[in-house]
Amino acid sequence: MPHRIGIIGGSGVERPEAGYTETVVDTPYGPALAWIGEGEAADVVFLSRHGVEHDLPPHRVNYRANIKALQLLGVDHVIASFAVGGIADDIPPGGIVAPDQIIDLTNGRDFTFFDGGESSLKHTPFTEPFSPQLRVAIVARGAAHGLAIRPTGTYVCFNGPRFETAAEIRMAKAFGADMVGMTAMPEAILAREVEIHYAGIAVSVNWAAGVKGPLRVDFGALESIRGKLLPLMLDVLRTTELNADVWSRESGD
Ligand code: HPA
Repeated sequence: MPHRIGIIGGSGVERPEAGYTETVVDTPYGPALAWIGEGEAADVVFLSRHGVEHDLPPHRVNYRANIKALQLLGVDHVIASFAVGGIADDIPPGGIVAPDQIIDLTNGRDFTFFDGGESSLKHTPFTEPFSPQLRVAIVARGAAHGLAIRPTGTYVCFNGPRFETAAEIRMAKAFGADMVGMTAMPEAILAREVEIHYAGIAVSVNWAAGVKGPLRVDFGALESIRGKLLPLMLDVLRTTELNADVWSRESGD
């Protein structure tokens, strides 16, 4: 099995440019949609988060099929892109963050590979939900790609598909959240469960509900930097020396 690197494309970054072949990967959890690179990009798998139907809402994304497909394709480190709403004052539309923490407020999603029975029982440490090594590299290499990236931030994951109420965002802010999205969970924990190094790049496409005036989503903010995101991700994935430090210092059962 070749060693491969993975990109998970979210809203606004749905598919790669030319040079990738579309593949449907069958997994025990259902099909996943991936593009496998050709030529110089033969080590790259681009996974479309929103799936074969292209338009799955965040609560219906088949996160287990997606992560299992990456594992089956030999991917061992991944960067995911997220569209988010900014809660912190310094994450306006167009702001970019490499999140370091998550608050999970989702419900009703299939959020583990360790579901008891035949799949056995495992409690996975998740103190650091994003790979610190990849996150630091994303920030460091960002400048070379013309992208200023906030080096940390807490991502609160709501279930959607509706946006939040102003009170929900006030609560999330009081809990320490800097940005809000609908897709980092259970994606991040599933990657961790199968020991795929996982980091994210979040791009703000609106101020979160009630933060500054009426909620107005603008994917134009993402449009203008989209061309720089994939090269940055590939650069980081190809040049970062990885070890399992963050995992090996913690043990669950
Ligand atoms: N809330 C939740 N998810 C989002 C938002 C938001 O304001 N913007 C983009 N994804």
